[in-house]
Amino acid sequence: TDVLVLNGPNLGRLGSREPDVYGHLDHPGLAQRVLGWAAELGCEAEVRQTDDEAELMAWLHEAVDTRRDVVLNPAAFTHYSYALRDAAAQVTTGGLRLIEVHLSNPASRERFRHTSVIAGVATGTIAGFGVDSYRLALQALVHQA
Ligand code: DQA
Repeated sequence: TDVLVLNGPNLGRLGSREPDVYGHLDHPGLAQRVLGWAAELGCEAEVRQTDDEAELMAWLHEAVDTRRDVVLNPAAFTHYSYALRDAAAQVTTGGLRLIEVHLSNPASRERFRHTSVIAGVATGTIAGFGVDSYRLALQALVHQA
């Protein structure tokens, strides 16, 4: 399994950003954990972060073109980006898997976070387990390959 792990806006601020909600691990730390888990599971992973919607869409297009499964934390785009949803849909309708992940559990937070426009085109969603959400997503991809 070849996996692109894509993190959306403000996730580059992990560590200093609302640590009570998102924990104390920074993005390089998260990437390191993810790569460690991928190695243990025997898959190839690449971790990227951007604040830019267009770049995130280009990476989803790239996943389709290079036939890679995706672990996506769309961050705030989760709640309103139909453009990102349409890009994510190309992954799953293209026969690849896309797992939506969140560090926090958006369902237990503000109302605007209760809606995910991505969930309906994702293979599945894992939320609320902190950085372990990523580990669980990788496990799902590898164990259901
Ligand atoms: C998040 C949850 C989103 O509501 C929020 O906008 C984020 C992070 C999470 O991982 O918990 O930026 O996706």
